[in-house]
Amino acid sequence: MTLKFVIMSDLHLVPEGALSVTLDTAARLEQAVDAVLARHADADFCILAGDLADRGEAAAYERLKTIIARLPIPAHITLGNHDDRPTFLSVFGDDFAAETGHVDKVIDTKGYRIIMLDSSEPGRVDGVLEQAQIDWLTARLAEAMDRPVIVVLHHNANALHIHSDRIRMLEPDAFIAALKTHPDIRQVIAGHVHLTSTATWHGLPFTTLAGGHYSVDFSVDRPDAPMRRISGPGQMAVVVGTPDRTTVLFDDFIDGNADIFWSRD
Ligand SMILES: [Fe+2]
Repeated sequence: MTLKFVIMSDLHLVPEGALSVTLDTAARLEQAVDAVLARHADADFCILAGDLADRGEAAAYERLKTIIARLPIPAHITLGNHDDRPTFLSVFGDDFAAETGHVDKVIDTKGYRIIMLDSSEPGRVDGVLEQAQIDWLTARLAEAMDRPVIVVLHHNANALHIHSDRIRMLEPDAFIAALKTHPDIRQVIAGHVHLTSTATWHGLPFTTLAGGHYSVDFSVDRPDAPMRRISGPGQMAVVVGTPDRTTVLFDDFIDGNADIFWSRD
């Protein structure tokens, strides 16, 4: 009884005919779906961990709906800072919202509990978990003290010594305190930084995946150093869980180290 699921993040879809930072993000998502069909069709489900739409347009969410219809496995969704919650819900349906009002969700399967949290906050680039979500998380953890838990959300809570640390989760103390109420948090997995990382913080394991959009390079502890955007990889995470072992693998479904020359207009 092995748990296997795929995480995609930072899709940054745009309406038909548009590009995002020079990239055809819909074509990249099609390649991600092809990779799932080729290599991960045996997964239990897929999680889309936010920044689904680049600018939150309804047309981008409609496009998302069409493309993920080709996935051979169920898709569970939460949101990131580029998303627009009301527009997302208008396209996908209000059932995607939890009692918190956010796009939070719990999945119980194969002896694990997976908790998805919506860290998007209107008008903000950094992440926020409201008190109602912290309370909801604490309650969902209390129900699952006998099982390992994996948490998936858009924003990284831990600083990574990189440029984008200033837009990580705002005030993560309550989140950490909630996680510490559970004895077996196997992973806390985020997107947002467009970069692969693993870390231990407060004794908890944190991972980020590069996601489907551009990737960034970094200078350690030089937040003002120029950041290069590069065209690849398009990356998804593949999480494999047995009772005693939780593994995160990375599938780079698009290669590419070309510089992106782009100026914000
Ligand atoms: Fe993103």
